[in-house]
Amino acid sequence: PTPDAWTRVDHYLTETLVDQDAALGAALAEQGRAGLPAIEVAPVNAKLLHLLARIAGARRILEIGTLGGYSTIWLARAVPNGGTVVTIEAEPLNASIARANLDRAGVGDRVDVRVGRAAEVLPTLAGDDPFDLVFIDADKESNTVYLDWAARLGRPGTVVVVDNIGRSGQVADPHDTTSQVVGTRQGLEMLREDPRFDATALQTLDRKGWDGIALAVVV
Ligand code: DHB
Ligand code: MG
Repeated sequence: PTPDAWTRVDHYLTETLVDQDAALGAALAEQGRAGLPAIEVAPVNAKLLHLLARIAGARRILEIGTLGGYSTIWLARAVPNGGTVVTIEAEPLNASIARANLDRAGVGDRVDVRVGRAAEVLPTLAGDDPFDLVFIDADKESNTVYLDWAARLGRPGTVVVVDNIGRSGQVADPHDTTSQVVGTRQGLEMLREDPRFDATALQTLDRKGWDGIALAVVV
């Protein structure tokens, strides 16, 4: 199969199963207008996150890596009234675009956008109620740091999702020692070795190409 083939299938599946309203379209348009990269999760994966949150009955969600807030809108729409999404974004411009996108989507009241390096923001979240779902989608070099915080800020049963674990096959190429790939591999090894997690991973093929997600539960 060629990129054209799986992109066509991705669009077909999206059109068939994923309702994208005007607010989601506007979020992507505004993100593009502001010059942010179009590296948000594909719609089918955004809906997977949304469904995982609903299946888990998540009321408190943590997202590491907001970008323009596209996945954040999907997560915020999965929590019941009174629920919360805390999303961490290192780049102030991204955070301000996300803030406007979330408000336009009508979920601004349930989303707390924290601007700063996640490694610095995460310790400030300790002591609040545990998160029910954590989505890790930021700098891949820090995946082990973020997984450690996911375990600390979660509870037994917390769902953890890590984006971009396939990286066009680079993850399984021992000659690839770029920092993002090494960080991704270290995250996967931590999911295997750290007794706080039980995990698996899936390859994905969509409009963004060949990649994957890891899915874990906090033990
Ligand atoms: C990149 C980051 C992502 O989170 C993603 O989903 C795709 C690409 C990147 O940094 O290139
Ligand atoms: Mg990603």
